[in-house]
Amino acid sequence: SRRVGSTSLPRPAAINHLEPGDNSSGKLASSGWTFNKTLSKLIRKNVLRFLDPERDISILKGSLRPGDVVHYVFDRHSTTNISENLHRLLPSVSPLKNRHYRLCAIVGNSGILLNSSCGSQIDSHDFVIRCNLAPVEEYADDVGHRTDLVTMNPSVVQRAFRDLVDDEWRRRFARRLASLSGSVLWIPAFMAKGGEERVEWALRLILRHAADVRTAFPSLRLLHAVRGYWLTNKVHIKRPTTGLLMYTMATRFCEEIHLYGFWPFSHDAAGKAVKYHYYDTLKYEYTSSSSPHSMPLEFRTLRALHHQGALRLHTGNCH
Ligand code: CTP
Repeated sequence: SRRVGSTSLPRPAAINHLEPGDNSSGKLASSGWTFNKTLSKLIRKNVLRFLDPERDISILKGSLRPGDVVHYVFDRHSTTNISENLHRLLPSVSPLKNRHYRLCAIVGNSGILLNSSCGSQIDSHDFVIRCNLAPVEEYADDVGHRTDLVTMNPSVVQRAFRDLVDDEWRRRFARRLASLSGSVLWIPAFMAKGGEERVEWALRLILRHAADVRTAFPSLRLLHAVRGYWLTNKVHIKRPTTGLLMYTMATRFCEEIHLYGFWPFSHDAAGKAVKYHYYDTLKYEYTSSSSPHSMPLEFRTLRALHHQGALRLHTGNCH
């Protein structure tokens, strides 16, 4: 079998158009935002110096064979083998090849979305990206239901679908997969060790129940490349969150990007408690210093970009 590793990053270019902003977490004025096309184009150009999301959004079938050994991105000393099922589900061409959208929404999972009534606004975008198979039907008024791409960390199988312990959870998972008909399901299967079995269960169910879900498995270099891009902008992010990965990738396909559900704080600007996720009881300790992510830093970065008109962060309601 062959060994597949990540390629090294291009040398960072000096780009200084981002200002990380201050430490406060105040809400954003909803009026007075104008799209800065020039800055958005510059960001796209600079992201492309580090990665080509069209290519890196998924490993392609032709580049791996069943049995190949892959090193995990975060656990470089651990490896996994490409299973027959995974190989069958690798796309032959990039699922976003030659795609361009004028208006995209990226929906993060913060409880700030609850009672926002943003559902129809979110659904009106040309392309809607969601994270970690977050439920939509029960929350459609606030989060919408259109899904063109949705991510699924292997840990989601455990966290949201009880490790598929019995028929009932397997049925729920299969129903959720079936609801993704025609969408891209983006599975970062090679980030951290430990999820191998979960990925395999999920893949079996996908093959059995969700024939027209288009699966994608991010390239091994994606995460390093995204981190490298932000580093050149003086934003030191150890492990970019799914949300930031999606924004960085979306700059390639989308002209104007709107973010919803990005609010990694336990209270809103008026002091009202905000759930970590709109759909479960996970707590904020998750964003503490023991977390691999730096969500507040990411948020400040995105907010600075919002103020510069490169993207639009929606943190209020949409009435
Ligand atoms: N997010 C946020 N504020 C929150 C929760 C989530 O800004 N209170 C954003 C983050 O960018 C996050 C994305 O929404 O990546 C999706 O949320 P979630 O599924 O909770 O991601 P995590 O599992 O926390 O992290 P990961 O990025 O590792 O998937």
